[in-house]
Amino acid sequence: MRHLRVPSAQTQRWLLHCKANGWLAEGPVRPLSDEHRGLPLSDSAPSDDHSVWEGLDVVVLEPVVPAPSHWTDRLPEPLCNLPPSTWPSAYELQGDVLMVKLEAGAEPYANEVANAMLAQLPNVRLVCADEGVTGDFRVRSLRPIASRNGNMSTKTTVREHGFAMTVDPAVAYFSSRLSTQREHTLEAVRALRQVREEPLVVADPYAGVGPAFPLLLDEPGLVSGWLAGDLNPDAVELLEDNLTRWSAGKGHEPALTVCRDALSWADDPSLRGQADVLLVNLPHDSIDHLPHLLPLLAIRRPVLIRGWAIRSRGSEEADSDQIRNMCTDGGMVVNRVSVTPVKGFSSTKAFVAFEVHGQVQQAFSS
Ligand SMILES: C[S@@+](CC[C@H](N)C(=O)[O-])C[C@H]1O[C@@H](n2cnc3c(N)ncnc32)[C@H](O)[C@@H]1O
Repeated sequence: MRHLRVPSAQTQRWLLHCKANGWLAEGPVRPLSDEHRGLPLSDSAPSDDHSVWEGLDVVVLEPVVPAPSHWTDRLPEPLCNLPPSTWPSAYELQGDVLMVKLEAGAEPYANEVANAMLAQLPNVRLVCADEGVTGDFRVRSLRPIASRNGNMSTKTTVREHGFAMTVDPAVAYFSSRLSTQREHTLEAVRALRQVREEPLVVADPYAGVGPAFPLLLDEPGLVSGWLAGDLNPDAVELLEDNLTRWSAGKGHEPALTVCRDALSWADDPSLRGQADVLLVNLPHDSIDHLPHLLPLLAIRRPVLIRGWAIRSRGSEEADSDQIRNMCTDGGMVVNRVSVTPVKGFSSTKAFVAFEVHGQVQQAFSS
């Protein structure tokens, strides 16, 4: 298409002039150099050497081909004839690792899918087939398919609330879906800090890679120390790495990170009776595990439990009663219990957040 080559400073004047005379074609103004722009000319614009151009050049430019707007537009030609339903409609990104579920129809073309995704998504380094979550550690079975730079490692860095967190979705659970819940935890801990008028100890026995901690550790004077752990040794390795980074130079005490079954924490005197805040995030079992965790709480001081669980839809009142009774049976004076649906889980189940405020009256017997 013909374009009028104008000095950049005169772009506006020539645009108005061409438009007023009906000489402007549809299309963008194209940068030609630092000093010149190209204005698209319609077929009715005067000939290239006409005096109306005041000696400016008219040049012919290749039409702009719009970049593909979707990764499927980058699949090799023969695959474009397959039904669109062949291709995955969603994927998940953790850092620069993309995880995608491939149905049977797409599986034979895993390499083509991965290469198309790498071409479309410049921030992705590695594309993996996501073969589902396995085992108690809720870890995904991932099959790396293609890498942008040859690095096939699933270890990567996620940014959440401005903090860098090392994750590895092939060996340890992490989900960004609970990031808003982590902000709610910060608010609840702040409120307890105000009541207690002293920095608090946070226990997170199902900490995974530790996403609950960066917001809490970053706030001066909020947290004095932590008890953190997970049963998955790979998660604990990442957790230690993350906690070291987030707490650098802040002198937390206690700063205990352990790899052990949360159900046995209360057997360890170094873990008992210390936590002002207890986080319980094992959604299928949180409520069943609760009685075993109560001995971790500090006694005769206001304390907070925040947990997440998968429960029957609409059973918040019954769940509140159950949690209250468990805590009372465990020697706690309960001031307030809340159970709040966060999102649906299935047609009959919901993912809920629960919160308990109270005070443990006496040390728990083991
Ligand atoms: C749903 S994930 C939550 C992880 C983390 N709190 C988060 O929000 O990302 C549950 C974690 O509990 C760990 N886990 C499972 N059973 C456990 C147990 N009995 N004791 C301690 N950790 C356990 C799993 O390895 C997993 O990392």
